Amino acid sequence: MAKTIHVGTLISGGGTNLQAIIDACSRGSIDAKICFTGSDTPGIKGLERAQRSGIDTFVVDYTKIIRSCKHGIEDADLPPDFDLGEILEKQQLVTPDTPAGTLGGASSDGSMERIAFFLKSRAMAEKKLLDHILAHDIDLLVLAGFMRVLTPYFIDRINTVSGRYKIMNIHPALLPSFPGTDGYGDTFRYGCKVGGCTVHFVDYGEDTGPIIGQRAFEIEAGDTLEDVKRKGLEREWELYPACIQAFADAR
Ligand code: GAR
Repeated sequence: MAKTIHVGTLISGGGTNLQAIIDACSRGSIDAKICFTGSDTPGIKGLERAQRSGIDTFVVDYTKIIRSCKHGIEDADLPPDFDLGEILEKQQLVTPDTPAGTLGGASSDGSMERIAFFLKSRAMAEKKLLDHILAHDIDLLVLAGFMRVLTPYFIDRINTVSGRYKIMNIHPALLPSFPGTDGYGDTFRYGCKVGGCTVHFVDYGEDTGPIIGQRAFEIEAGDTLEDVKRKGLEREWELYPACIQAFADAR
């Protein structure tokens, strides 16, 4: 039996994956203990699920932080250890061609300015996440339906040992197909006959890190997008605990 690993979780929504992991921990079917659940959005159902299981929760309200940035970002607002040049060099999330909408609220004048705004405002939110997360000694950070990209500012402060990934994500498509925010929708609209989900480690790109596990399912004639989501989520609930256990075993 592997040593029990300490896991932090981040969510943005209903938290059915979080519930599957909570249940796997309490059944003893994975060697993991959840230390906290953080969210970028107040009032979501996933936070209630965590609280019901006695897990500490916190919220960093991204929408509010990004809105406040629109009045301008002063150097004093940024985390003291934030280095824009370094983050620009490492990040693989946005390019000057990235459409303004994708950057979620960036100003529209000048592509470099938009990218800088994006990275600075996200790092301000990420610093607040880190203030909560780094108070715990976790082996693994699990993104369970967390709908924010993470910049190298955040990733480097979690992955402190070179070459050792500590952040896992679940994506609703068979990566590398259909990265982004609507994996099942994109799979369905493309007319795929097979859909699936992927658990991968998080690197500096969007949904690009090393793949840990995948589950596939058939999309049959007559299936609706709702059917695809249901089939996918059922696979996710099995896959995520299995991948967390694989991480615990590798330790
Ligand atoms: C899941 O389908 C997960 O794959 C997806 O969000 C949903 C969360 O559901 N994640 C992403 O799209 C990440 N980019 P849940 O809140 O019920 O676990």
